[in-house]
Amino acid sequence: MKCLIIGSGGREHALAWKIAQSPEISRLYIAPGNAGTSEVGKNIPIPADEIDSLLSFAEKERIDLTVVGPETPLAKGIVNLFQKKGLPIFGPNQAAAQLETSKIFAKKFMVRHRIPTAEFQVAASLSEGRSILEKWGGKPAVIKVDGLAAGKGVFICDTRPEKEAALKQIFSHKIFKSAGKKAIIEKKLNGEEVSLLAITDGKKYHSFPPAQDHKKIGENDLGPNTGGMGAVAPNPFLLPSVKRQVIQDMIAKTISGLAEEGITYQGILYAGLILTSEGPQLLEFNARFGDPETQAIIPLFEGDLLQLLLTTAQGNLLRTKPVFRKGSACSVVMTAAGYPGPYQKNQEISGLKTASELRNVLVFHAGTTKKGRKTLTSGGRVLNITGFGKNLTQAIANAYLGVSKINFAGAYFRRDIGQKALRQSGNHPKNLT
Ligand SMILES: Nc1ncnc2c1ncn2[C@@H]1O[C@H](COP(=O)(O)OP(=O)(O)OP(=O)(O)O)[C@@H](O)[C@H]1O
Ligand SMILES: [Mg+2]
Repeated sequence: MKCLIIGSGGREHALAWKIAQSPEISRLYIAPGNAGTSEVGKNIPIPADEIDSLLSFAEKERIDLTVVGPETPLAKGIVNLFQKKGLPIFGPNQAAAQLETSKIFAKKFMVRHRIPTAEFQVAASLSEGRSILEKWGGKPAVIKVDGLAAGKGVFICDTRPEKEAALKQIFSHKIFKSAGKKAIIEKKLNGEEVSLLAITDGKKYHSFPPAQDHKKIGENDLGPNTGGMGAVAPNPFLLPSVKRQVIQDMIAKTISGLAEEGITYQGILYAGLILTSEGPQLLEFNARFGDPETQAIIPLFEGDLLQLLLTTAQGNLLRTKPVFRKGSACSVVMTAAGYPGPYQKNQEISGLKTASELRNVLVFHAGTTKKGRKTLTSGGRVLNITGFGKNLTQAIANAYLGVSKINFAGAYFRRDIGQKALRQSGNHPKNLT
């Protein structure tokens, strides 16, 4: 079978690495890919959001399955385009992807289907935003633009000046352009976060081991937000009984709720939860595999990923649950100097081979490119080093052993990935499922 993966990050390298192991695979392409994906398949220089060129390529090469990594092509309707031509593609269509592409759509959907989420209101102007916040009094609030903003459209505001600054960025300076035409203002919640991913063909679904992302650049969750600095799976904060409840109250209700509204959701449904003292609340949906969660989850998956994704795309997800190995995985992101601000590029990376030859260590590339025999940095998040082991302690140790072998000028990584989870699993050693 011929498979095309769209995207160029660590998530896509992890998917490519696993799909390359399928007994059914004959050719694997990644568009546009990175230095790591070129070692497990063939990179095709088509950007992920050029959906017409991707379609032409898939038609010409007679691709049996296209797997969409990032959200932009989903938002542009790549799934509708491929399906119209009868080409199998893994991912939700444009209507279903609105759960991620419009936060207003997602919140209204949650209310319609009684899915627990933070109280909110919609603002379409500076004055509307101010008057909502005025009515809410001095309480902390979270202000989020409606559309896609690559993780940068969320403002957590504790003070009045912070709220005013966020509204001005959105409505006066219009820094998010059309994605910021409207915004939601919601109550700030407190608790541990969990990424729960499920795979669904629109009717049946299976959940993956819950993961925990680390969004802040600094240790102890300090500093600005990033695309994600590391992840662990399973996430010990989500106890098995609560996980069952979340699957019923959020995942199952969402899939059936969409179906009632005439929308078939096929692909990965990613629920971003926060575990509050009043129970789990849904912060957001994503319509795709998470990055870096995928780099921790996929190494634990024991089955044939190509078959799992293909049967889902065909609307025929098997009833048998996907099998995940026992134990834990920890993925540490190495970034370029300056990230998440303007960052350095074109630094030579050393130690990749040594790290990838270690037992229980996988090196997934993100912002890398090949120049002759050298591998250079080309993005803010450069590499994801995943370690696994029979418990989280070992997984963390293996990940950092891998990290210690790798070098490039200005390399930065958090040294505390997985530590919160480790403290929690110490509290509930039997609950790590
Ligand atoms: N109501 C809330 N209360 C507290 N924190 C929140 C709230 N909403 C969002 N956050 C914080 O902001 C982060 C980003 O919010 P959200 O997931 O809605 O945005 P996003 O830009 O879609 O993120 P992603 O890049 O993960 O898709 C959350 O992971 C969480 O840490
Ligand atoms: Mg999101």
